[in-house]
Amino acid sequence: MIIRKAELRDVSGIVWVCTEGNRQTYKDLYDTYYLEKVIKDFYSIERITKEVLSPEGWDGWIVAVEDGKVIGAGGGGMIDATSSEIYVLYLDPSRRNEGIGTKLLEYMTDLQLSQGAREQWVSVAKDNQKGIPFYEARGFLYQFEKLDHGTKKEDHYVSLRYVRYL
Ligand SMILES: CC(C)(COP(=O)(O)OP(=O)(O)OC[C@H]1O[C@@H](n2cnc3c(N)ncnc32)[C@H](O)[C@@H]1OP(=O)(O)O)[C@@H](O)C(=O)NCCC(=O)NCCS
Repeated sequence: MIIRKAELRDVSGIVWVCTEGNRQTYKDLYDTYYLEKVIKDFYSIERITKEVLSPEGWDGWIVAVEDGKVIGAGGGGMIDATSSEIYVLYLDPSRRNEGIGTKLLEYMTDLQLSQGAREQWVSVAKDNQKGIPFYEARGFLYQFEKLDHGTKKEDHYVSLRYVRYL
């Protein structure tokens, strides 16, 4: 398995990993309409292609690739001079807990450290038991809750903000 910056040939793999990763992670947390809208808006071939070709305002997509197949994808970037953020991190759902997420996180962290990051933030959906234990195991500390709005005005989703010091 290798970890590297994404290339055009990885686009459909990123779309697949993020689509399946989102469905598996949030199927019991978000309503289906909202979940499928998020997938359609954020993980389309068109959008990922653009982001791979010219990432703007972040470090772009990083992939874990095995035998040419994308098995994990993530991305992050700086949010101010000394703070960075992990924006996205998903694996092929059948490949969790093998250390792949840790390797992707390390690669993104190295990119951020080289740009001056001293602290690293992430938002995780409240009750996401497929994500929270991972970040806590990697040294992230819970800070506060944040309200996200769903597609209907009565839909409120709560994210938890975590930080770790680098
Ligand atoms: C989060 C995710 C990317 C982590 O990648 P991964 O390859 O599964 O994680 P790793 O195998 O590298 O590391 C797992 C670590 O978390 C810990 N961990 C994982 N699940 C755990 C659980 N349920 N309880 C306690 N610890 C847990 C492991 O003990 C391990 O720590 P250790 O190496 O110190 O023992 C992956 O599991 C995933 O795709 N989850 C679903 C999507 C998601 O929630 N993404 C984050 C959105 S913000």
